[in-house]
Amino acid sequence: MEVISEKQNLRSQIRSQKLLRKKIALVPTMGNLHDGHLSLINRAKKFADFVVVSIFVNPTQFLEGEDFERYPRTMEDDLSKLKKMGIDIVYTPELVDIYPHYPDEMVSVTLSGVSNDLCGSIRPGHFDGVASVVLRLFILVEPNFSIFGNKDYQQKIVLENMVSDLSMCIKIIDGEIIREPDGLAMSSRNQYLTKDARLNAANIFLVLNQANEMLIKENKSIEYVEDYGKIELKKNNFKVDYFSVRNKNDLSEPSEDSDLIILTSVSIEGVRLIDNIFVG
Ligand code: PAJ
Repeated sequence: MEVISEKQNLRSQIRSQKLLRKKIALVPTMGNLHDGHLSLINRAKKFADFVVVSIFVNPTQFLEGEDFERYPRTMEDDLSKLKKMGIDIVYTPELVDIYPHYPDEMVSVTLSGVSNDLCGSIRPGHFDGVASVVLRLFILVEPNFSIFGNKDYQQKIVLENMVSDLSMCIKIIDGEIIREPDGLAMSSRNQYLTKDARLNAANIFLVLNQANEMLIKENKSIEYVEDYGKIELKKNNFKVDYFSVRNKNDLSEPSEDSDLIILTSVSIEGVRLIDNIFVG
């Protein structure tokens, strides 16, 4: 496993793999790796001969007042985990390697449509920042595949839209949500929670499951289930940003025959947590 922090070096390594006709997969991360990230890497290995993982805490996707400064940075631990995974390259750029003209002259991606909905409406500009960094990584690595977790389902959808709209030859592959034993989706932000809030956070997945059952077994309406989810989570002291049933394919408002997904974003003690469940 090679640790590379300069894009010239990254590019020349990738170029030689491409000459060997190797299929390349990219797994973008912000580090502080947990089993959710590692499962994406295992999935990448199934699709590609050569796996690149990036670790970069991307400032442009954090809004003013969010946790960019205190976001956990655990490079040494991350590298030792990655070494055991048998990947090929870890790209660990400094800010200037990714954003040579940050902040005033940098090129930003402006998304539209679904990127302004759900998390995009409570974190305006967040997905533009995600797209701005992921596009740069795509340009540097030119992967055949890139793997994104369903934990951040809307992120996966907006990146699929970007790849499609820019006619890029990259296949976005999803990875299932990896959970703690009590059901809480693994996230680097879980460690911000106090002991009580951490215990309480298991209710997010519980309520998502209840909502799922109501839709498929009890034939309840979408409006009923959305209200139920919000009320239950509020009862458990969460501030609810949204609890929404959507079309799984594009996150639009569902129609009769849509495949469905239930998504929620809540916060507790000022920590925002997101989760979702496929209906059925
Ligand atoms: P980060 O939060 O580090 O997540 C990196 C990848 O891991 C994302 O695709 C995310 O969906 C996935 N992931 C996180 N928790 C997961 C879990 N419990 N189960 C499965 N997959 C999980 O997402 C980002 O970083 C950034 O926005 C990034 C795409 C790297 C751009 O900066």
